[in-house]
Amino acid sequence: MATDPAKPLGLDPSKCFIGGAWVPPIGVETLPLINPSDGSELCQIARGRAGDVDGAVAAAEAALGGPWGRMTAFERGRVLARIGALVLENADELATLESLDVGKPLKQARADVTALARYMEFYGGAADKLHGQTIPYLDGYTVYTLREPHGVTGHIIPWNYPMQIIGRSVGAALAMGNACVLKPAEEACLTALAFAELARRAGLPDGALNVVPGLGAEAGAALASHKGVHHMSFTGSVGVGKLIQEAAAQNIVPVTLELGGKSPQVVFEDADLDAALPFLVNAGVQNAGQTCSASSRILAHVSVYDEVVSRMAERYGAMRAGPAMDDLDVGPLVSLRQKEIVEGFLTKGADLEVAARGQVVADAPAGGAYVAPTLFAGVSSNHALAQDEIFGPVQVIIPFTDEAEAITIANGTDYGLVASVWTRDGARQMRMAKQLRAGQVFINNYGAGGGVELPFGGAGLSGHGREKGFEALYGFSTLKTVAAYHG
Ligand code: NAI
Ligand code: MG
Repeated sequence: MATDPAKPLGLDPSKCFIGGAWVPPIGVETLPLINPSDGSELCQIARGRAGDVDGAVAAAEAALGGPWGRMTAFERGRVLARIGALVLENADELATLESLDVGKPLKQARADVTALARYMEFYGGAADKLHGQTIPYLDGYTVYTLREPHGVTGHIIPWNYPMQIIGRSVGAALAMGNACVLKPAEEACLTALAFAELARRAGLPDGALNVVPGLGAEAGAALASHKGVHHMSFTGSVGVGKLIQEAAAQNIVPVTLELGGKSPQVVFEDADLDAALPFLVNAGVQNAGQTCSASSRILAHVSVYDEVVSRMAERYGAMRAGPAMDDLDVGPLVSLRQKEIVEGFLTKGADLEVAARGQVVADAPAGGAYVAPTLFAGVSSNHALAQDEIFGPVQVIIPFTDEAEAITIANGTDYGLVASVWTRDGARQMRMAKQLRAGQVFINNYGAGGGVELPFGGAGLSGHGREKGFEALYGFSTLKTVAAYHG
C-alpha cells in the first residue's frame, strides 16, 4: 500500500491470525486485494485453505479448554468492552482501511466503526445477563437449566459491511463464551484482521478469535464443513447460503443464514413525504446499494406516485459517485465483478422507464468499479428488477392502488428481510406491521439508525435465525437441563 493505514493497527494481511499469532498460510500463497476505487492492488492477503482452517479450529478448541473457557461471563464482558474502546481509539485508521478495501465513502465507513464499537459495548454488557432457569418438577427433584456456549463457532462474512457483521456475529458469540473462526471475504478482509489484532491487545485470550482469509470455495467451504465447528453463522448470497446449510446438515449443526433481500418501503397517500424522502433514497444507495437490507423497491400509492417519482428523481439527479476517499454520495462497487452483475440488471431493465440517473464524476479513475445510481419508475412487480436482489445503486418505483394490493406486492418476492411503511394512520401502521413478511418492520422510518439492539434476520430466501440485539445470545448459546434427584 502506498500509504499504509494498516501499519498502526499491527496487522499482517499476508498471514492468518491463529491462536493469537500471525501465521503464514500453510501453502504460503497469497491473493491480491484490490482497491475498487481505482483498481490498484492494495496488498496481498493470505490464501488460507483447509489445513489453515484445521489449525484455526484446533486453536479455538484449545482456547475453550484454556483461559478463555475458564473466564467468567463478566470477565468476557470486560474484554469485549475494552475491544470496543480500542475500536473507537483507532476509528480513523479502521475507517480508512474499510474505505480503501470496500470502496465505501469515508463517512459510511466511520458509521461502521461506531457500530462495531457499539456491538462490543452492547454484547460486553450483555455477557453476564443471560441466565438459566429453575423448573418446578416432580417431588424429590430440583431442575435447572444452564446457558452454555456451542463451542467453536464458524463465521463466514461478506465484503459489504465487514465491521458491522463481525460486531453482530463474533460479538454475540464471544459474549456467550464461544471460540470463533472467522473467514472474511476475499474482496475485503483488512478490518477483520485489524479487529483480531485489537482484540488481542484488549486482552482476548489466544484462540478465542481466529481469522483465516481466503477464497470461499477453499477456506470458506473448509470451515463450513469442518467437523470441529458447532455452529455456523453466514451472511452472503442465497446460493452459498444453501451450500452452508447443506454442509451443516452433514454435521448436524445449527446455522444462522442472512442472505439479503428485496426490501420494500410502502408510501401511502397520507405519508409525510418530506420526512420519507431522504429514507426512500438513502436506503437504496447507501454503500452503493450493496446492503442486505437495502430498500430496492419503493411502493407508492397512485395518488402520490408522481410526486414520489419526481422528488426521488431530483435527488438522483444530484447524486455523484466517485472514489471512496472523496466521500461523495456513492462510492464504487466492491469489485469489477459486482459491477458486471449490476450492469447485467441494468441491461435487463432496458425496457423500463429511467426516472433519473446520478453521475459518475468525470475524473473517477478508469479502473474503478463505478455504476451511476439509477432510478426506474412505473415498474411492474413481476419484472426481474422488482424481484431479484440487485446489490447496486438501483431502485424501482412500483405504483399501487390500495392497502391490500400494497401487501400483495410487498410480500410478492421470495425474500423477507425488512420492510417499511409510511403513513400517518395508526391503525394502518399496525395492520401493515402484522401482515408484512419481514424480520424487521419500520414505521415512518427505515433502518432505525442501524439498531445494534434490534433483532435482525429474515424469512424465505432472506434466511433464518436472528442476529443483533439480545436475541442473538440465544442463538449463539445452547441450553442444558440438569435434573437432580435428591429424594
Ligand atoms: P458470496 O455469498 O459468494 O460471498 C459471501 C462469503 O461467502 C464470502 O466470504 C465468500 O468467500 C464466502 N463463500 C463463497 N463461496 C463459498 C463456499 N462455497 N463455501 C463457503 N463460503 C463461501 O457473495 P458474492 O459472490 O460476493 O456476492 C454475490 C451476490 O450475493 C451479491 O450480488 C448479493 O446479491 C449477494 N450478497 C449478499 C450479502 C448480504 O449482505 N446478504 C453480502 C454479499 C453478497
Ligand atoms: Mg461468491
